[in-house]
Formats: sequence, C-alpha cells, structure tokens
Amino acid sequence: MSVNKEIKRITTETLRKMKFDGERISMLTAYDFTMATLADKAGLDAILVGDSAANVMSGYETTLPITLDQMIYHAQCVVRGAKRALVVVDLPFGTYQSDPKKALYSAVRVMKETGAHALKLEGGKEIEESIRSIVNAGIPVMGHLGLTPQSINQFGSYKVRAKDDAEAQKLMDDAKLLEELGCFSFVMEKIPAELAAKVTASVSIPTIGIGAGNGCDGQVLVIHDMLGLNNDFKPKFVRRYLNLEDEIVGAVEQYVADVKSSDFPNSNEQY
Ligand code: KIV
Repeated sequence: MSVNKEIKRITTETLRKMKFDGERISMLTAYDFTMATLADKAGLDAILVGDSAANVMSGYETTLPITLDQMIYHAQCVVRGAKRALVVVDLPFGTYQSDPKKALYSAVRVMKETGAHALKLEGGKEIEESIRSIVNAGIPVMGHLGLTPQSINQFGSYKVRAKDDAEAQKLMDDAKLLEELGCFSFVMEKIPAELAAKVTASVSIPTIGIGAGNGCDGQVLVIHDMLGLNNDFKPKFVRRYLNLEDEIVGAVEQYVADVKSSDFPNSNEQY
C-alpha cells in the first residue's frame, strides 16, 4: 500500500486560523530555489519574495531599483522550491502606487507568471484604490505599514517609525483600512512593540512583525540576516541563528589554500 505523501499547502485561510487559534506565524524571505527548498523543508509557514532582493541579491543600497521582471524571476525560482509554504511576492516600487489600473496589471503579471499565492504592497490610505483593484480581482493582498523601505527618500532614514502620536494614529487608521479593504494580513516594520501589540489586538487579520516586538501574530526576517550572511548589518531586531559569513569565508579560504598547495583534488576526488 502506498502512503499518501501529499503536502498540505498553507493558505491565507490557514494564517487567519492561526491567529484565531493563537498559533504564531513564521515567515522569512527567500529569493531563489535552493533557499526556498530549505526553508520549506524546515516547516516555515510563509515565504516572502521581498524586494529586499534589491539589497541582498543585487547589492543596491535601497529597494527602489528592482524591477517587476526581476521580482517575477525571483518569485518563479521560489515557487519551484516551496511545496508547503504560502509564497507572498512584493510588488516593487513604481508598479502600483497612484494608478489602480497599473497596480492590477502588475499584480496579474506576477500571479500569472510565477504561480505565487499572494502579493505584498507598502502603504495605507495612499494606495487604497490600488489595493481595492487587486483584491477585487481575487488576488490576496498583504499590507505593509510602519517603516516602508520604498518610501526611504521621504523618511530620510531607517529609524523606528510611529513614535509620535500623530504617526501612531495614522498607522492604527491604516491598519483598520487594510482590514476593511480585504487584505488577508499585514506586515508592521520597525515600530514600538506596544503600538504593534495594540494594533494586533484591534484587527481580525494576522499581523506579521519585523522589529515590531513580540505582540504580533507572526514574525518575518530577511533570511540573509538571520543566517548571519553579512557581519556589517546587525540591527537590534535581528536574531542570528548562524554566522554564515565567517563559515563561508573560512571555507573559501581553505579551498583557495588547498588548490594552491595541490592538496585538492586528491586521488579519491578524480576519475
Ligand atoms: O522586502 C522585504 O524583505 C520586506 C521585509 C523586510 C518585510 O518587505
């Protein structure tokens, strides 16, 4: 008798139920097939194909330069590796703001060409009509409030957001709006933990925090950060589970030495 090994896909509904049941949601970024396969194997609930690919994969200073075609490429690679996790893809800067028709065009391209399950858009009231048009087309949308890196030129820095009453109130209003618009979840980035907990308690959809404390329904990190792939980037909110920069540099140093000394390949490593 063959055992049914069918893997049950995590859906937006699963995440909603997890909030209801009080089960925390685990999310990390991934941008390629291998990393997505490994994260999926480890039982991660959701993978974000973040536009942070612009930073960690392409070496840009901000997330602004990455294009829709490049995000589609990354998402295609991730979808091939993720058998169980929900795959959410960032719509990149300039592909959805201010024009709902353009937003829908970008959203449909990502969904058709990648097989991903949902999209993430940065902002609240300012992009209300774009969110509405995408949700109305039956595409699940995750919002993103607080520090929204696509607005870095307006913010001027990557400092903690919503520390004053006015910005905190706007964030709470935007959170309610995202819920009303039919978003299935939203990210809150780099805001005070107390505010994030208050927002989480005020909405029925799951919140995912990054630098937003322990009161959110789930957590997301850039996978390169939690694996310690860059010793120069150590923000307070990142917990490092490995120190891969040192491991990889050490391994490559050893390889270089072995090649130089003719130690590699040895008699067992040749035909
Ligand atoms: O692009 C990204 O990696 C993100 C996370 C920081 C939430 O949006």
